[in-house]
Amino acid sequence: MSAVSPEFDVWMQETVTHVAAVLDELLPPEESGLARLREAMRYAVLGPGKRVRAALVRAAGEASRSAGSATAAQDLALDCASAAVELIHAYSLVHDDLPCMDDDDLRRGRPTVHRQFDDEALAMLAGDALQPLAFGCLAQMPIAPALVVQAVQVLSQAAGSEGMVGGQAIDCASVGQVLPIEALQQMHRMKTGAMLEASVLLGGIVAGASSTTRTGLEGYASAMGLAFQVVDDILDVTADSATLGKTAGKDAAHGKPTYVSLIGLDGSQRLLASLHDQALESLLPLGSGAGRLRELADFIIGRSH
Ligand code: IPE
Ligand code: IPE
Ligand code: MG
Ligand code: MG
Ligand code: MG
Repeated sequence: MSAVSPEFDVWMQETVTHVAAVLDELLPPEESGLARLREAMRYAVLGPGKRVRAALVRAAGEASRSAGSATAAQDLALDCASAAVELIHAYSLVHDDLPCMDDDDLRRGRPTVHRQFDDEALAMLAGDALQPLAFGCLAQMPIAPALVVQAVQVLSQAAGSEGMVGGQAIDCASVGQVLPIEALQQMHRMKTGAMLEASVLLGGIVAGASSTTRTGLEGYASAMGLAFQVVDDILDVTADSATLGKTAGKDAAHGKPTYVSLIGLDGSQRLLASLHDQALESLLPLGSGAGRLRELADFIIGRSH
């Protein structure tokens, strides 16, 4: 497992700052009679997330455009797509933390939205309001309308019942059960993998990826999407709450089926190594333009929170 370079760290930090500024601009201001709703929306989105999904959009965009083809419009569209995936992700976290789901008090090192505002309905509505904002953001992309339509299709599929929400429904229905490995994999691919895959594909769509590049991106995204949740399962067992910024040990406490509960820590680490290899192999046809995606694979596998 290779460590990420200092130069990657600088790029990642720049991504975090840039995406936060784009999101800040997009979110409605805290004024009028809707001040609390908007405060909750801003709190949910602007907390210290890693912005991995935004980074995947940008890195896939970088890998997909032919030399010298970058345009200001494409850059703006990549910002819109990055913001859109972070908005859907932030909403999924707000709902995931609600008492009716994982009942969590801590997120990104701060109280969860329903705890901070002491209001479950407000947290639910803040999450609800982030969804249309994400699609509105894609609709603003200054690229060919046919590409905007493709992007909307990709995000709606990843966020809905065939993707994240469907996976969350399986997660809720699986508490206390021992799932067969195929069912666990399906749940993880849907609840978490789908949004990471969409992030990579959106970068490719916006930057006009060729069909060979798209195939490479799909292979990478499928492997890294599953890997992301395998790491999440591992960290829930191996890290502490202060490092994670969320409550450690809650999967076992809540009877959640995870890779660690099913195949153990060693088995999960072996699976990760093989997914990492698969991801890197898929990028081979993309050459040096996929450097950031390779580094992001290292970052995702090696992350501490
Ligand atoms: C946490 O996602 C939820 C999962 C899908 C596992 P992240 O680990 O990307 O959370 P943030 O955005 O950095 O807080
Ligand atoms: C959540 O999975 C996936 C989402 C769609 C939000 P987890 O429930 O394991 O995520 P954490 O550990 O609370 O971040
Ligand atoms: Mg959950
Ligand atoms: Mg959770
Ligand atoms: Mg988790």
